[in-house]
Amino acid sequence: MTTIGFIGSGHIGSQLARLAVARGYDVVLSNSRGPETLRSLVEELGEHASAGTPAEAAAAGDLVVVTTPLAAEATLPVEELAGKIVIDTNNYYPQRDGHIAELDDESTTVAERLQKVLPTSHVVKAFNHIGAADLTGQSLPAGTPDRRALIVAGNDPAARERVAALVDEFGFDAVDIGELAEGWRAQRDMPAYGPRFDVAGLREALAAAKR
Ligand SMILES: NC(=O)c1ccc[n+]([C@@H]2O[C@H](COP(=O)([O-])OP(=O)(O)OC[C@H]3O[C@@H](n4cnc5c(N)ncnc54)[C@H](OP(=O)(O)O)[C@@H]3O)[C@@H](O)[C@H]2O)c1
Repeated sequence: MTTIGFIGSGHIGSQLARLAVARGYDVVLSNSRGPETLRSLVEELGEHASAGTPAEAAAAGDLVVVTTPLAAEATLPVEELAGKIVIDTNNYYPQRDGHIAELDDESTTVAERLQKVLPTSHVVKAFNHIGAADLTGQSLPAGTPDRRALIVAGNDPAARERVAALVDEFGFDAVDIGELAEGWRAQRDMPAYGPRFDVAGLREALAAAKR
């Protein structure tokens, strides 16, 4: 039995948790306000779900999803995440996150920053260029023609492969785009960000990205 920990249980975290429990994963949810505020989501998700603090969710997770505004980087449970695969769904919105010079000048990416905060974790970018509702709305079995494709990027090939398998299990074809530095190709305002593409369409959109 695999447990997925969630740091952030809002639009994206709750949707990924729905996909996870439907496939038999256990999930441990967390947010900034405390586990008691997640009671109704836990009830909805059923016996495979529980809520805890971010540190508890990180400690419980075989895989952990970080899906928060970027300010949460400052309070992540670094020790509990050590050695683990950490899936980063985050995007940079200056109006929400404040201006961050190295993201404004595009000298780095959101996930490379997270990798610096979590030096011994294996950060994998995934699920950042699909709207929350589409995670359940567009999930389809493997082999379905024109199935939607989603990127994975990460510096550790084994971690990328593990998350690609999860993307597939959750209902999408995975397109491995290599290291975290490549993640900009699917970030906000790029052609791959938002629309529904199959593998061929996503590859074209990624190739058309301009920094
Ligand atoms: N919404 C989308 O369609 C979409 C699509 C792709 C990617 N994304 C990106 O994915 C991330 C999450 O988006 P979202 O729409 O799910 O956001 P959201 O609905 O606002 O949820 C954010 C979650 O993060 C939690 N959080 C905030 N600060 C935290 C902290 N310091 N420690 C632990 N948890 C914390 C919040 O908890 P509290 O409510 O208790 O503060 C909430 O559960 C963002 O970076 C977003 O840009 C969003």
